Amino acid sequence: MVSVRGLTKRYGEVPVFRDVSLDVAAGEFVAIVGESGVGKSTLLNCMAGLDQWDAGSVTVAGNNLADLDDDARALLRREKLGFVFQAFHVLPHLDVAQNVGLPLLLLKRPDPGRVAQVLAEVGLDGLAARLPQELSGGQLQRVAIARALVHRPRLLLADEPTGNLDPGTATRVLDVLHDQARASGAALVLVTHSAAAAGRADRILQLREDGVA
Ligand SMILES: Nc1ncnc2c1ncn2[C@@H]1O[C@H](COP(=O)(O)OP(=O)(O)OP(=O)(O)O)[C@@H](O)[C@H]1O
Ligand SMILES: [Mg+2]
Repeated sequence: MVSVRGLTKRYGEVPVFRDVSLDVAAGEFVAIVGESGVGKSTLLNCMAGLDQWDAGSVTVAGNNLADLDDDARALLRREKLGFVFQAFHVLPHLDVAQNVGLPLLLLKRPDPGRVAQVLAEVGLDGLAARLPQELSGGQLQRVAIARALVHRPRLLLADEPTGNLDPGTATRVLDVLHDQARASGAALVLVTHSAAAAGRADRILQLREDGVA
């Protein structure tokens, strides 16, 4: 579903990562771990075509991202990708249900029943009409997760999606991500500092200052 080949990213002269290769097939769950600042979010952003790189290639669902312009990348993301941002990026003027339903709306497939279903799955039923400013950090994080899942994407990229959650809720939310990925044969790539979360993955990619392990 996603294939990364020899990916290298620099800011000026400073390398962030070098020669990273990674394949994640449909139905597979891969965890990316590594110290803070080692480039995990940057790698995930490159896999989503949201960031530029200096060498190598990224292929998503058979599309080499280098061959796509910005509009085509945006369309590919909209149809195939669910992304949970480390900083949530929930829209402040939309309520919870509107935020979660946005991917379906953009695909011209509005589905209030599906929105209610994912909200219930992440434990947010009853909060559909709240604005983001009326939510806790962990609730906001679950809005971001529900939004990434709602359109049943082929590729799920989640950046530290349980970082703001208590252990019990984290386990439950990870179950939801994992179950949906398995059920729909999606590829799941999870950046995490949690050993418990990484331990559930089929494979672990360790990013290091000096390369990949
Ligand atoms: N615009 C930028 N210009 C220069 N350096 C940057 C820029 N954005 C990020 N960096 C650097 O790139 C490196 C990788 O950042 P990234 O956010 O990918 O790390 P991370 O592994 O996700 O860390 P964390 O675990 O703290 O989220 C960091 O050292 C960061 O300081
Ligand atoms: Mg990060």
